[in-house]
Amino acid sequence: MATTLPGGTQPEKKGLWAWINKRLPVTEFIQDQLTGYYAPKNFNIWYFFGSLALVVLVLQLVTGIFLTMFYKVGEATAFDSVEYIMREVDFGWLIRYLHSTGASAFFIVVYLHMFRAFLYGSYRKPRELLWLFGMAVYLALMAEAFMGYVLPWGNMSFWGAQVIVNLFGTIPGIGPGLVEWIRGDYGIADATLNRFFSLHVVAIPLALLGLVALHLVALRRTGSNNPDGIEIKEKIGPDGHPLDGIPFHPYYTVKDVVGVGVFFILFAIVVFFVPTLGGLFLEGPNFEPANPMSTPEHIAPVWYFTPFYAILRAVPDQRMGALLMFLAVVLFLFVPWLDRSPAKSIRYKGLPSKVALFLFAVSFIVLGYLGLQPAEGLYVALARIFAAIYFAFFLLMPFYSPIGAKQPPERVVYHAH
Ligand code: HEM
Repeated sequence: MATTLPGGTQPEKKGLWAWINKRLPVTEFIQDQLTGYYAPKNFNIWYFFGSLALVVLVLQLVTGIFLTMFYKVGEATAFDSVEYIMREVDFGWLIRYLHSTGASAFFIVVYLHMFRAFLYGSYRKPRELLWLFGMAVYLALMAEAFMGYVLPWGNMSFWGAQVIVNLFGTIPGIGPGLVEWIRGDYGIADATLNRFFSLHVVAIPLALLGLVALHLVALRRTGSNNPDGIEIKEKIGPDGHPLDGIPFHPYYTVKDVVGVGVFFILFAIVVFFVPTLGGLFLEGPNFEPANPMSTPEHIAPVWYFTPFYAILRAVPDQRMGALLMFLAVVLFLFVPWLDRSPAKSIRYKGLPSKVALFLFAVSFIVLGYLGLQPAEGLYVALARIFAAIYFAFFLLMPFYSPIGAKQPPERVVYHAH
């Protein structure tokens, strides 16, 4: 027990911890952000993916730093330096597979994280800005992954870059000039590889870190949503904390550690046994050096871009396809305002909202599959149908979302284990 001196003052604390705290508010930070931060007590499995995204972000930064020690940027050296990493550098194969599998894991985790927001209406007021920062993170992540994929200078790196950069050429007026400016040459070349390297290794990671920080600050401001989609801050107990809240530490730090453990078991199975995942995580043609004279049989991006790629190819006119693809991403920005249901969580939304979300998830997965197939016959016909479902989900949302919603409960639904 702390002794109190006459006059009510506390004796000055001694030791290293006290010394640090006088100069840096560590204890205060732990109290404010962890033990004194109350999160809803009814989090479920869907709430693992935010902390997992943070773990994968760190993994990508660390493995990326080690790869950069041996990777040699340049048309003449890039491919060989990656082969050198795989065959000669001690544990180079491991670092490279951790990084390439990490890229896919990042998108799996982020897609599940975003789907949770659709399930529980986490993008709705007051979390619109949190959602928009999340979307900015997602866009930066797409740019980061695309440029990273070009760096090994394999044949799919080259041709993938060719297809994607040429899409900017469909912008009326400025298109052709813009494409040349992005490439820094008349074709995908050494200059392109050099600038993609500097963007992938320095600029975008910095932007990502800044955006993730803003995402978390915005989250801290509003507090987390929860599977019931009701605001726990509206029911405060006599101790001044939300009645339905529990301290983030130790309750959720312990829970998140379990999630991280399970994640790493699954991750290790892929890294050690199936690092290319049959061409899904690393495509076959990328084990051959870039060759401007030989186009791979089917040019397809990595799986996390294929839903959008299928939309691009579903339309015969390239300009229209590129516009629809752009729209397919941009529409996410507007969901906080398109969703007009009185209830946030899918638990209390009407049947039309439930069916729409289900069909949207199916269309995203089917489009992802179709984007990996050649753009011909039945594949194109199906891509058109599922693209229509995809767009209908967003564009009809203001009309179907208010139908049939139930009144959410006053307090969160929670059953002790
Ligand atoms: C590097 C990528 C990202 C990181 C590290 C990250 C991190 C986090 C963390 C730690 C949380 C709190 C824990 C949780 O709710 O799971 C969170 C919540 C949230 N994130 Fe992210 N996030 C990322 C990307 C995104 C993206 C791409 C979106 C959507 C476009 C998004 C939307 C949200 C929303 C809406 C919440 C609040 C969820 C709720 O309270 O129900 N995040 N994020």
